[in-house]
Amino acid sequence: MADDTPPEVAARAAELRQLIEYHNERYHALDAPEIPDAEYDLLVRELKEIEAAYPALVTPDSPTQTVGAPPLGLFQPVRHRVPMMSLDNAFEEVELRAWAERLRRQIPDLDLDHLDFSSEPKVDGVAMSLTYEHGRLSRAATRGDGITGEDVTANVATVKNVPKTLDSKAGPFPPLLEIRGEIYIALADFAAMNKRQEAAGLKLFVNPRNAAAGALRQKDPAVTATRPLSFWAYQVGEVEGAPEGSHWPATRQSATLALLKKAGFPVSTDARLVTGVEAVIARCLELEQERHALAYEIDGVVSKVDDLSLHARLGATSRAPRWAIAFKFPPEERTSKLLGIQVSIGRTGRATPFGRMVPVFVGGSTVEMATLHNEDQVRLKDVRPGDIVIVRKAGDVIPEIVGPVLTGPGVPKRRKPRWKFPTSCPSCGQPLVRFEGESDTYCTNIDCPAQRVQRIVHYASRSAMDIEGLGEERVLQLVGAGLIADPADLYALSVAQLAELERFATLSAANLVAGIVASTAQPLSRLLVGLGIRHLGPTGARAVARGLGTLQAIMAATDEDLAAVEGIGPVIAASIAEFLAMPTNQAVLARLRAAGVATEEPGTAAPDRPGAAGPSQTLAGLTVVVTGAVPGYTREEAEEAIMARGGKSPGSVSKKTYALVVGDAPGASKLKKAEELGIPMLPAEVFASLLDTGALPG
Ligand code: IVH
Repeated sequence: MADDTPPEVAARAAELRQLIEYHNERYHALDAPEIPDAEYDLLVRELKEIEAAYPALVTPDSPTQTVGAPPLGLFQPVRHRVPMMSLDNAFEEVELRAWAERLRRQIPDLDLDHLDFSSEPKVDGVAMSLTYEHGRLSRAATRGDGITGEDVTANVATVKNVPKTLDSKAGPFPPLLEIRGEIYIALADFAAMNKRQEAAGLKLFVNPRNAAAGALRQKDPAVTATRPLSFWAYQVGEVEGAPEGSHWPATRQSATLALLKKAGFPVSTDARLVTGVEAVIARCLELEQERHALAYEIDGVVSKVDDLSLHARLGATSRAPRWAIAFKFPPEERTSKLLGIQVSIGRTGRATPFGRMVPVFVGGSTVEMATLHNEDQVRLKDVRPGDIVIVRKAGDVIPEIVGPVLTGPGVPKRRKPRWKFPTSCPSCGQPLVRFEGESDTYCTNIDCPAQRVQRIVHYASRSAMDIEGLGEERVLQLVGAGLIADPADLYALSVAQLAELERFATLSAANLVAGIVASTAQPLSRLLVGLGIRHLGPTGARAVARGLGTLQAIMAATDEDLAAVEGIGPVIAASIAEFLAMPTNQAVLARLRAAGVATEEPGTAAPDRPGAAGPSQTLAGLTVVVTGAVPGYTREEAEEAIMARGGKSPGSVSKKTYALVVGDAPGASKLKKAEELGIPMLPAEVFASLLDTGALPG
């Protein structure tokens, strides 16, 4: 880092990176975002501004340089030979003009007034890569972190408008042709699906994007087949061996869309070819006006330079191409009547005020509750029961109440008195406390039933122990019946006990018990996620579990040992240590172990695991980075092989790197960095001998 970087700026950049990575994971890997897209965009913007002012702070793994989040590992990994990138955002007209200016700066002879652009709706769905071999669909993969996605072929094969074979009208086809686009759920289909859910007494889906992402993550394709997924194609990815006379790939984006249509792909009818930057802007504003008239949800407009030969000249940053930009619409707002304000208690005891409103359709879903965040926010906004309030929803997140509308039609003349934040917990009745200098209020009673319910729900959730059939309703029922009070109690439940409860048949009771038993085999990283340790998400949990191998090792580790694990900063390290030092948590962990819950991370060295004779520690203390595909290994397997031999395998090259293993289609930034730092680069063929001996060849 350069000496002239003020430490507080460096610290803020580090903090922003942690925050952005956390929210990336919530959004991309878990489909459970916590903050509005617009707020997320602000974080990214702030980090970009800092990095622009202090370029020494830019790291190759900064979220400003990377795409999405690595997959959760539910499906087989798929490497994208042509990376699936993200898009840079513009929120205002001036930013679109600035983008055009950047194009001209890069290619000075560009005539911006006469340049063609393809202006396309930015469909709010899930990016998808479809590979066709000899005109037949052979694989479907999610974007993941842009380099590695997940194989969801079986699920995508159920999507009706994804062609299984290409229409020969658009042939002859290259033997390998990758098509990219978006899987989404049309608004009418979404409404009908939720009606069916309601009629069947099932949970409603929050919004089309979440429902689409969830459908693609199903382990059983028969379930995916019941969800009304659709596809829009908008890009050609990898092309291999285009035959003589082939039209693939086209030379223009507009021609690509026409060709995709000819081949049988659904292509948005709202895409337009426009000339000049002013026309680009006009189309963005036009689509913003029309967005609610469209049959599907859009969150912006993507403008692309139409001439594909210019794409190669304009190039890309590590996360986004320079030839395209996404104009993002501002968050959506509607008004409704506030019926009352209540407080909900989360798993950490945080008391969050929220408003109950007359249902209103905003941002693609019907909203009845919206958050008010905390006590200060309620006071600052001065919203009172009975007020007409503005509800905002951006992206998929929990809607929020912006403030009251105090004048205009329908506004009551006399307002009710201010709402007061309750002094006791609505669940357990114990006093609520707000610590000095904090904006949140907590129920600090560790035995509070509401907290217990939320802790167990989290433990059983998909990204943690993944216990099927154990959602909030069931947990409430079991806690209410006095059968469980913490996650360890789950393992003592019997089929006979459950079958006595209402809404439980013998079969559902047996299924739930089987699900609970199956969870004992989950790897340590999932157990760590399930414990709900502050700041520790799935990525951090995997890093700790892989770095230290066993729960025993983690419990024996000091703050410094934990912070020495690649990917774990001091904040997370302290939080883990604090959690594990608490006797109540130690007691639950001891009972979980006694119940047979696994406390090891498979494939790690775990030197203190009795009887585990792992491979010899040829790479003890050495850092080996892998880039590109190493034949015979997935990325994870290669990294695990290094770690099993005592080494570390982070995602980026640094001074400390012992060697860079270079496989097929390596990452340019890693090669460059290794070259700059003089790090030995080894071909993938010698990977096996490196593992065996730890020695560098030659
Ligand atoms: S082009 C190199 N076109 O937006 C980027 N993306 O924020 C290629 N998206 O991952 C993407 N509609 O999931 C493109 N007409 C469109 C799009 C579109 C939606 C999504 C896509 C992409 C994300 C980037």
